[in-house]
This record gives sequence, structure tokens and C-alpha cells, in this order.
Amino acid sequence: HAEATKIKNIQTVQFGRWEVDCWYYSPYPDEYCVDHLFLCEHTLRYFRRLSTLRKHEAACELRSPPGTEIYRDMERSLCVFEVDGREHKEYCQNLCLLAKLFLDHKTLYFDVDPFYFYVLCETDEEGAHIVGYFSKEKHSPEGFNLSCILTLPPYQRKGYGKFLISLSYELSKREGKTGSPERPLSDLGRLSYRSYWGFVILSALASEEDGGLTIRELSDSTRIRVEDIVSTLQDLGLVKLWKGQHVVSISEGAIDRYVKGSGAAALLCKPSLLAWPQAS
Ligand code: COA
Ligand code: NA
Repeated sequence: HAEATKIKNIQTVQFGRWEVDCWYYSPYPDEYCVDHLFLCEHTLRYFRRLSTLRKHEAACELRSPPGTEIYRDMERSLCVFEVDGREHKEYCQNLCLLAKLFLDHKTLYFDVDPFYFYVLCETDEEGAHIVGYFSKEKHSPEGFNLSCILTLPPYQRKGYGKFLISLSYELSKREGKTGSPERPLSDLGRLSYRSYWGFVILSALASEEDGGLTIRELSDSTRIRVEDIVSTLQDLGLVKLWKGQHVVSISEGAIDRYVKGSGAAALLCKPSLLAWPQAS
């Protein structure tokens, strides 16, 4: 598809209290390809004029995304909604259009039925404000546990990307499966996965008393695919050849650097706050 090479057609997008510069082309209908597009932060409907948005907002009853709340962290004022692409088609299509503004190689916009969307929000007295999301195929023969991930620019580099990734693995854990993200990953996507995988794998190794863990056992406990574990260990320079065998050799120093005092665990999904799956 030539879409990745198409010129950016919307310059800025406004939602909630944010006005954000767009990064890439997104296939909004032609008549909405304006310099400045206004979105309702709850329905993600789009408007060319602020006055029309205000009129919509006055009538709009939603104070959160549609769907089912599956996660709530009162201390951090966070929650996550599971939105079924078949039940909430318009919302999910609008979400894909918004996401494309920040993704240069995404092809899904309109066929949202086969996906769930996990929408992360910060909450306050006014309601739930969208921070980011990931999508996931309802049935993935390839074992993908995440299709597309986005943190909206005002919320980037605060740990929300890794939170969403950790949630995707927590869902896999509850399904009794291992998973992996759909490829290709963007540069920012790769950075986020590298960081998450490195942290989780080194934490597991650090908490292992007598150093006896196979990669298969690591995969079973973290739900990270074996190939992703191996490539992470190689990237970290921890795979050594010893008497003709590949072994993982890890120093206290490496563990200290990645795990101790990083505070990273506090930002990941807390399994006890996840109510999933829910009886429907
Ligand atoms: N430059 C350098 N490193 C960056 C970065 C940037 N612009 N943005 C994130 N990182 C690093 C962080 O430092 C962090 O690593 P660390 O914890 O080891 O320091 C890691 O990536 C994850 O950061 P985090 O804050 O959890 O992620 P995020 O909320 O910023 O979201 C994405 C990450 C990928 C979801 C976000 O960048 C995004 O939405 N990008 C646009 C869409 C996209 O590319 N999606 C992925 C498609 S596969
Ligand atoms: Na996979």
C-alpha cells in the first residue's frame, strides 16, 4: 500500500485538553482533511469546527470509552476498557483513524470486527481520558497477543507503553498461552518491547535462587515467546558459548542495572487489579 508514503493530511488534532501535532497520513474522509481537526475524547468522533464539537459534547453522555471496564487502579487513577470491535464498530474505527496519525505502517482501519481494543485512561472527576490502547485479534493462529499499540503523544515516555505491553502478557497468562506482538514493529515499538522484555527476563533471573532456569521455564512464567527471550538475551550480551553450548551468563552487575531500584515494576499492570475475563 502506498499509504505510508502519502503526505500528512491533517496537521494538528485537538481532544480533551490537548492539541497535538500529527506525525503521519491517516485516511479520514476527504472533507475532514483540514489543518486542525477536533475530536470528542469519548466517542472519538471528528469535527471540522470547534462549535460543532461543542454542540456534540453538550449532547454526548459518554464520560469514558464504550465497552467493559476490566482494570482499575485507584492509586494511579488509571483504568482500562475492553471494547469489542464488532459491538462498537464506529468507536473502534475512529480509534484506528486517530492511531494512524502516529503510525506510519498500519493497514487496519475499517475491518475492526475481528479485534478487541484495550483502551487505557487516566481518570479524574470529569471522567476517563484516553491515554493509549492496544488492539488484539480475537483469534490469532500465529499466536499474536498484540496487533497495534499507541500511547498518545502527550502521555508518551511515562511508562504507559510498557504498562500496555505488560497487560497484553497478563491476558496471555490468563489464556494459558504464550504470545508475541505482530510484526513489523516500529522503532518506538521495538524500543518499548526490548525494554519490557529485558526488565521481565532479568527480574525472573534475579529472583531465581540457584540459577537453574531453562528458557522454556522462563517462557512459561513470563508468557514471552522463546524466540523473543533468546533475542533479548542476545541483545543484552548475556548468551555465551561454553563448552560448545549456548548458556546464559549473567552478572550481579547486569541485574543491578536493569532491575534493582529502577522502580519499573510499579508502573506495570498489577494482576490483582485486572478483572478478566468477565462473564458476559
Ligand atoms: N526516544 C527514545 N526512547 C524512547 C522514546 C523516544 N522517543 N519513546 C519511548 N522510548 C523508550 C523509553 O525510554 C522506554 O525505555 P526505558 O524504560 O528502558 O527507558 C521504552 O521506550 C518504553 O517507554 P514507555 O514510556 O513505556 O512507552 P510510551 O508510553 O512512550 O509508548 C509507544 C511507546 C511505542 C507505544 C509509543 O512511542 C507510540 O505510541 N509510538 C507511536 C506508535 C507506534 O510506533 N506504535 C508501535 C507500533 S509496533
Ligand atoms: Na506471535
